[in-house]
Formats: sequence, C-alpha cells, structure tokens
Amino acid sequence: MELADIRNLISISDGYAYFQTGGFSPKPQPVIDEVVRWLRFQAQGPALQQIFNPTAEMLETVRAQVAAAVHASPDEIMLNENTTVGINIVASGITWQPGDIVILSDHEHPGNRIPWYNLVQRFGIQLRFLSMTNDEEMLLVELDTLLAEKPRLIAVSHVSRRSGLRLPVQAIVERAHTHSVLVLLDGAQSFGAIPVNMQEIGCDFYTFSGHKYIMGPQATGGFFIRKDRLNDLAASWVGSHSQKEMDMHGKLVLHESARRFEFGTRNLADQAGFGRALQMWEEIGWSNVFAWIKTYTDQLKQALLTIPGLVLETPLPYSKSSGTVVFHIPDLPAEHIAHQLYEEDRVLVSTLEFNPRSIRISAHVFNTSEDAERLLTGIQRIVQQQGAKL
Ligand SMILES: Cc1ncc(COP(=O)(O)O)c(C=O)c1O
Repeated sequence: MELADIRNLISISDGYAYFQTGGFSPKPQPVIDEVVRWLRFQAQGPALQQIFNPTAEMLETVRAQVAAAVHASPDEIMLNENTTVGINIVASGITWQPGDIVILSDHEHPGNRIPWYNLVQRFGIQLRFLSMTNDEEMLLVELDTLLAEKPRLIAVSHVSRRSGLRLPVQAIVERAHTHSVLVLLDGAQSFGAIPVNMQEIGCDFYTFSGHKYIMGPQATGGFFIRKDRLNDLAASWVGSHSQKEMDMHGKLVLHESARRFEFGTRNLADQAGFGRALQMWEEIGWSNVFAWIKTYTDQLKQALLTIPGLVLETPLPYSKSSGTVVFHIPDLPAEHIAHQLYEEDRVLVSTLEFNPRSIRISAHVFNTSEDAERLLTGIQRIVQQQGAKL
C-alpha cells in the first residue's frame, strides 16, 4: 500500500473536509473489512476451540504490532479501549498519601484531569499545573521549580491538544528521574502523528488511542508500562485473564507483564482492526507518513499566516509540533468560525473546552490540497465578513 492509496480507502460523509483526526479519525476500508471479518468469524461460535484459539492468537499479534510501533516489548503493552484507561491505571495504581503532589500541565484533556481531580477529592493529593509555553527553556525552568517540591508523578501530554506543541519529553523524563519522579505521558495526540519511541523517551508509562492518528476502530488503544515499573503499580482492576496462577482458595499470581491489566470478555474484532491499521502504516512506512504531515502542516501554517490578524498558536517547525495546527483570530469567537466553516464550507474543525477563541485543525494523510483550499477560503471569507461589519 502507498500513501496515495489512503484517500481512496476512506469515505467521508457528505464530502466534508475532515480536520478532526485529533478527536476521532475516519476509518480506512481495510480496517473496516478486518473488523467485520473477525466479527463474522467469532459469531460462528466464540467458545469453539477452532474460533477461540485463533482469536486469542490474533490479539497477541496485535500486541506485538503495537509494541513494535512504539519500540517496546510486547510484555510492556496492555491493549485496551482508549487513552484514558492507561491514565486511570496509573492513578489507581499508586498508594496516595494526603499532600502527595502530581504535576499536570494547563493544556491537559479532561481525560488527564478528571482522574487526578478525583484523587484530590478522595485522598487529598495536590495538583500543580505546568504552564505550556512554546519557549522550551522557560517550560523546563518552571518544571525544575515544580520538581523541587518533590512531586510523586508528572502526567503530561506528549503533544498538546490545545496548541499542538510537541513537548521536549526526553528532557522532562531526564529531569524527573533525577528527582526519582515517575512520568506518565499522554500520547493521544502523538501516536501516529510523530515518532514515538519508548527506548528514546525513557518514560515510565505511556498511554495512547488507536482511534485518532492510527485510524483504527473507535475504542481501541493501549498502555505502555516499562518492564521495571510493573511492580510499582498496584493492579486495581483485575479479573479472568489477569492471572498467571490462581486456585480456589485465594492464591493469585498476576502475569509478569502488562497483560495483568486485561480481564474479562472484550471486543477483540476491534483490536484486529487496530492491528490492520498498524499494518497499513507499516506498509506505507512511518517516515513517509511523518514527512507528509510535515509538508502539509508547513504549507497550512504559512497560508494561515497570510490571513490578516490571524494568530498562529502552534510552533512553526514540525519538529516542535505534529499534525495539529491551532490558531485564533482576535474578536472572532471560535464557535462562530467553526459553525460557519461547517455550514458554509463543509469543513470540520474543532473548538476547545474552556477556550472561547482557538480553533484546532488536525491534518492527516487523507486530507487533500482541496480540503486545505476550502478551509483557507472559508476563513478568509469569515474574516472579511467580520471586517465589513465593523
Ligand atoms: C491529549 C488527550 N488525552 C486524552 C484524550 C482522551 O482520549 P480517549 O477518548 O481515547 O481516552 C484525548 C482525546 O482527544 C486527548 O486529546
């Protein structure tokens, strides 16, 4: 499969220009076909050996594919439904004391806020918020100040969903580990959009979705736990499949791998689709995907900057960003821009909670130059209409 094939493998309703992959991506036909194939297969008797066994083997193949994609060992990968699962595993796996400090950033998604806010209410932990700034040096200086308070954990995004900033995660991990502080990275906006390498980053935990830049089925995702951190997290939710050994009298030995967090009956057809999506990217070549995203977002940013008054919030170089491009136009509410683009131009962009002015564009390899043209023409028209009213 080649990069150019992707556009023909997806079908977007009503011809919309779809810039919301950071929320959920559309799904390529091979992914849909794979899910349907496994659904049909399982439906013939999920408990029959000739169906159960290949399905279980398929799950391990997907685990190996996910592990390869993030440069980890399969034993370090839990397969699950979304980014937020991994955040909850960490949040519920540490024995918290009142006053323990967790560092978040001021750009985190509710999924990387609510589990921690909940711990504030349940156990009296305290939160600190690192100010996301495109000035890397300033960000690291503030981090040093926060680390001096001896927090237990840092839980921040690899790529900010609110500005598109790619964080200097290696530097963050190095600093945190010098202070014996654990690091959980939220990879929802990075996995599939930029290189993600657990060996290079060195973080303790990494959590990600399959339904965004990977273009896998809705409700697929994974959680990486570094091998030597496995016993630092208590497993709060466990059940059938979590165990290596058990008996009928209370004996329990959990798997010596991230599989211990998986339990019960699960939707394995969707996981097959996740694997198919990863196979697609393997065939195309990750470097081709990243090169495409770089070129497209470079061009988009340059074009946006020619619109009078528009303020680009995302750093210009791809090396400091990803597929996300965020901007605002003073005096033009984000809701107005997004609504106009949707209704008049058939362009889907997104707004951000608690931020009335910024618009987020998530570009991916299926977006065309015609999509970009429609987006830019729409924004220009909205700006002109606003100018005429003043
Ligand atoms: C940075 C970030 N974290 C977490 C999430 C939640 O993802 P999920 O629904 O896969 O848990 C999102 C979703 O957009 C996100 O952007």
